[in-house]
Amino acid sequence: MFKINENYLKLPGSYLFSTIGKKVREFTEANPDKKIIRLGIGDVTLPLAPVVVKALHGAVDEMGVKETFKGYAPDLGYEFLRQTIADNDYKARGADIAIDEIFISDGAKSDSGNIQEIFAINNKIAVCDPVYPVYIDSNAMAGRTGDYIPAEEKWSDVIYMPCTKETNFAPELPKETPDIIYLCYPNNPTGSTITKEELQKWVDYANKAGAVIIYDAAYEAYISEENVPHTIYECEGAKTCAIEIRSFSKNAGFTGTRLGFTVVPKELKCGEVSLNSLWARRHGTKFNGAPYITQVAGASIYSAEGKKQIKEQIAYYMRNAKIIREGLKSAGYSISGGVNAPYIWMETPKGMSSWDFFDYLLTKANVVGTPGSGFGPSGEGYFRLTAFGTYENTLEAMERIKKLS
Ligand code: MLT
Repeated sequence: MFKINENYLKLPGSYLFSTIGKKVREFTEANPDKKIIRLGIGDVTLPLAPVVVKALHGAVDEMGVKETFKGYAPDLGYEFLRQTIADNDYKARGADIAIDEIFISDGAKSDSGNIQEIFAINNKIAVCDPVYPVYIDSNAMAGRTGDYIPAEEKWSDVIYMPCTKETNFAPELPKETPDIIYLCYPNNPTGSTITKEELQKWVDYANKAGAVIIYDAAYEAYISEENVPHTIYECEGAKTCAIEIRSFSKNAGFTGTRLGFTVVPKELKCGEVSLNSLWARRHGTKFNGAPYITQVAGASIYSAEGKKQIKEQIAYYMRNAKIIREGLKSAGYSISGGVNAPYIWMETPKGMSSWDFFDYLLTKANVVGTPGSGFGPSGEGYFRLTAFGTYENTLEAMERIKKLS
């Protein structure tokens, strides 16, 4: 008789955004006349930029001609894209990343869930609390997180680093030494960020402790302030302790197109074994490449015109972020984030629980957000709104929320 992976049975509930989707569907079915505004999941609303559409069309045409047709993509991704990334995302920021340290994938979610596979089961992970649920859930599925303790809403073998108002939404170096540290900056869900000096402390800590940092920089394009690192490799010594995960979803609207990449430096080693070679082995065996047309589209955003168009899209969303920030503030809410990130993190009013506030906002204002507790126990009492809605809906959502207070 076959056996299942029982680690899956330990997972509480369903994936956060599936739970929210279900609740919203039920509400919509019961209230078909209500116009729901979705500021929950961080999904983009602007269409693909013209450069991207043009690149996609061109690549489709190439695929339809014998001379330019492409089959399987190279294991690591097409060199034209990896070279463009190395030049623009790294060299231009003073970071020396070689093209064989860049692995093209179908997105940051898959990479951040899969990367744990190259580590031993008895590694201890440390996560920020609240945190993007994929980091913990993927480790739980692998059996690396111990048991789930419902009363605490925590896993027994995970080091939680609280990021609340009291810690200025930043994690402190953990007392117990972890093996793997997940950091996400600009942060999902709190919208906070980190200075280069602060990030350097984590790099120094990891190098000293022999830990690896999984650095999720999916929201890098939203950085608006100086002295906020765009890549962890701006920090001295990061190549011996950090893996960086990047996405085309949030900067270029590829949530439905799917493209991302992970950087695994060759200097990052466990004894004599380079993690780059392990990830290459995993990639070669389990992944058959992002589509050629998607990789061509990804490369197009690095052209002068592409950069300009992407910047305009980001400015559009950040205008929404400002509207949300100002709207919530004027309605008396205590908020953070939304300056270097497309997420605004607010405290729920009158000590309401995160899910109660979710229900309240859904039923009274027909606005969907994300309950902070869905990201971890320290998210209780907080709520996340995304700036990825349309401008018109964002304005309307704020009007509705202001009327409630
Ligand atoms: C979020 O809302 O946290 C993100 O959209 C989830 C994701 O990028 O997978």
